[in-house]
Amino acid sequence: MAKERDDADAAVRMICAAHGDDEGPLIPILHDIQASIGYVSDTAIDTVADELNLSRAEVFGVVTFYHDFHRAPHATHTLKVCRAEACQAVGGRDVWAAATEAAANGSGEVGVEAVYCLGNCACAPSVQLDGRTLGRMDAERVSALVAADSGAPS
Ligand code: FES
Repeated sequence: MAKERDDADAAVRMICAAHGDDEGPLIPILHDIQASIGYVSDTAIDTVADELNLSRAEVFGVVTFYHDFHRAPHATHTLKVCRAEACQAVGGRDVWAAATEAAANGSGEVGVEAVYCLGNCACAPSVQLDGRTLGRMDAERVSALVAADSGAPS
């Protein structure tokens, strides 16, 4: 356990060092930590504060302000479902309901999150699976997507 913690701490310190010459490196560092470890832990916040000579509260405030940063281990796959106007106007509510239901019935491998516009309004309703934007979604397609990534037959 202690070794895992040390490894994670070393990884965070390496990420900080890689951004050593950047101007305003906090957000890029937090993105890299999340990409590498999956979330931004309390320990990572302490380490980043130490490396950047910031207070813990400053780093914590940034992490909790932005919804994209997770504070705890997250599902393997992330499905973002747009809940903004253009998507709501063409069936986004049904897509959200189907996605959350499929995720609740799945293996927990897919985490469903609400987002408020993916810039794909012309092809609404839109979702984003692990960064890949998909338009013209409907309840059936989104359920199949979640089931496929949950390892369940779709
Ligand atoms: S409102 Fe859903 S992608 Fe813009």
